Amino acid sequence: MTAVVPGPVGFLGSRQPGRQGEKPRAGLDVAGCRWEHPTRGTFRLSGASGSTTVIMVSIPEYYEGKNVLLTGATGFMGKVLLEKLLRSCPKVKAVYILVRHKAGQTPQERMEEMISCKLFDRLRDEQPEFKEKIIAVPSELTQSELDLSEQDKEKLIDCINIVFHCAATVRFNETLRDAVQLNVIATQQLVILAQRMKNLEVFMHVSTAYAYCNRKHIEEIIYPPPVDPKKLIGSLEWMDDGLVNDITPKLIGDRPNTYTYTKALAEYVVQQEGAKLNIAIIRPSIVGASWKEPFPGWIDNFNGPSGLFIAAGKGILRTMRASNSAVADLVPVDVVVNTTLAAAWYSGVNRYSRPRNIMVYNCTTGGTNPFHWGEVEYHVISTFKRNPLEQAFRRPNVNLTSNHLLYHYWIAVSHKAPAFLYDIYLRITGRSPRMMKTITRLHKAMMLIEYFTSNSWIWNTENVNMLMNQLSPEDKKVFNFDVRQLHWAEYMENYCMGTKKYVLNEEMSGLPAARKHLKKLRNIRYGFNTVLVILIWRIFIARSQMARNIWYFVVSLCYKFLSYFRASSTMRY
Ligand SMILES: NC(=O)c1ccc[n+]([C@@H]2O[C@H](COP(=O)([O-])OP(=O)(O)OC[C@H]3O[C@@H](n4cnc5c(N)ncnc54)[C@H](OP(=O)(O)O)[C@@H]3O)[C@@H](O)[C@H]2O)c1
Repeated sequence: MTAVVPGPVGFLGSRQPGRQGEKPRAGLDVAGCRWEHPTRGTFRLSGASGSTTVIMVSIPEYYEGKNVLLTGATGFMGKVLLEKLLRSCPKVKAVYILVRHKAGQTPQERMEEMISCKLFDRLRDEQPEFKEKIIAVPSELTQSELDLSEQDKEKLIDCINIVFHCAATVRFNETLRDAVQLNVIATQQLVILAQRMKNLEVFMHVSTAYAYCNRKHIEEIIYPPPVDPKKLIGSLEWMDDGLVNDITPKLIGDRPNTYTYTKALAEYVVQQEGAKLNIAIIRPSIVGASWKEPFPGWIDNFNGPSGLFIAAGKGILRTMRASNSAVADLVPVDVVVNTTLAAAWYSGVNRYSRPRNIMVYNCTTGGTNPFHWGEVEYHVISTFKRNPLEQAFRRPNVNLTSNHLLYHYWIAVSHKAPAFLYDIYLRITGRSPRMMKTITRLHKAMMLIEYFTSNSWIWNTENVNMLMNQLSPEDKKVFNFDVRQLHWAEYMENYCMGTKKYVLNEEMSGLPAARKHLKKLRNIRYGFNTVLVILIWRIFIARSQMARNIWYFVVSLCYKFLSYFRASSTMRY
């Protein structure tokens, strides 16, 4: 199995005629070129000698009149992509979204509910008619042929120009069977459908930067898969669930979960099955709240670090197995979306000029603007101390440790003991205990993420840098993914406030009460500590002569120190 090497860097446009009815696009090696007069939509490149001039399409212009297919539109990344595409490329013809029936709602109802959320406020203001461009297509991706009706299938085959495949199960503890079903088999089926699309220009597959997390240095190439997906799929057909679960740890080997394992298999499937397609793969690391768009700090789920930030803000999460110095490779969702839209533009405009190989983009931050878990902890705690969450359980404070013994000590002292005491209090006051259950759930979530908070990786980002250099100044502004400009302290504050506003739906007007509550918790802690000291004194000091001697010695030392301090400070005046 050979690895795919990324395509040539720094080549734009095409010298070959486009498809029938399409404007021919000129091509030019951009080395030694400079940008001239960026105008709305188009931009102009001229050779260093000034002799050659070429007109290139901008990103919004590329999407003009295009029919786009998007999977996973109801998910975190999918809906940000949908919003950004419609807002920043207003002339896109239509976006077909594959949506399944869920919780008694039809795909159409789900789409309507989704676009009524706050994320779409800005788009609603700017383009009140945007809804007409979104077409919800019923599709259950885990079913045969994606459960598409014949009519829908024909429609998609006839009209789609660009595919964005975002749908996946991102649960780290998914069973292997389910993870393979959605992340591998559904991807395969979508690629097969894409092969039949008559006007397809680009197939964008969203993978993860951790697909090859068993390596420390990850380049922008597709590595050999851990197993032949076809063989695995064949085996899963005859194995029962018990057997599959038994062999899962052996199969995933040095990967931490079925998610990263199946995402690696999916990349291989895309490469093998889509050999005739123009494909690009985007690999984001840990996708966090938005940096700028449509507004800072937008987030709508508890997945990944967001749930842990909330638990820390509530004062429930007090310790975590993590390395303070490990790189926290968070990447804002708008950065991922902008990179994805730009990558599709690049592959689309160069579809006749570039060799047919898959462009892979490691969409990460650690290499260009590193941020560490110790810093994450500091910013989360300081934000939530200044702007507390409502009804916090304790004052926010977290200890990150990679020491096994310390970790278990803190788990017992600052997680389990307070939860146990609180549950007793709930029982005494006639309420049902719940804190131990919450703590158990939290520990499960922490276990799933600790592999990523304890290790660091190095990702090559040459293709991402190359892509950035291909953008016109105007596109660079509108589709900004230059993470060197990211100011982490500000981002983290907006992220935490985003979890408060958009995930927990807490009003900012409730802040004074939340601060008062935090002060009350601090006084309770002072009171508790005082009682503890008195108890210790009663138990140990009052009963043992030696402990008493040590106690008097310490007290007299403090007294002498204070007297000396007072005397020396009065002498100055
Ligand atoms: N979030 C991250 O930190 C992160 C990091 C790296 C890469 N990624 C990649 O980014 C992509 C999007 O992730 P995300 O965070 O947006 O995930 P998400 O919020 O969990 O969204 C998953 C999407 O997939 C859809 N989906 C799941 N099962 C389906 C099925 N059987 N049929 C039809 N649709 C189905 C979901 O639809 P329903 O609403 O119907 O469930 C949802 O729209 C994924 O490919 C993921 O691997 C994410």
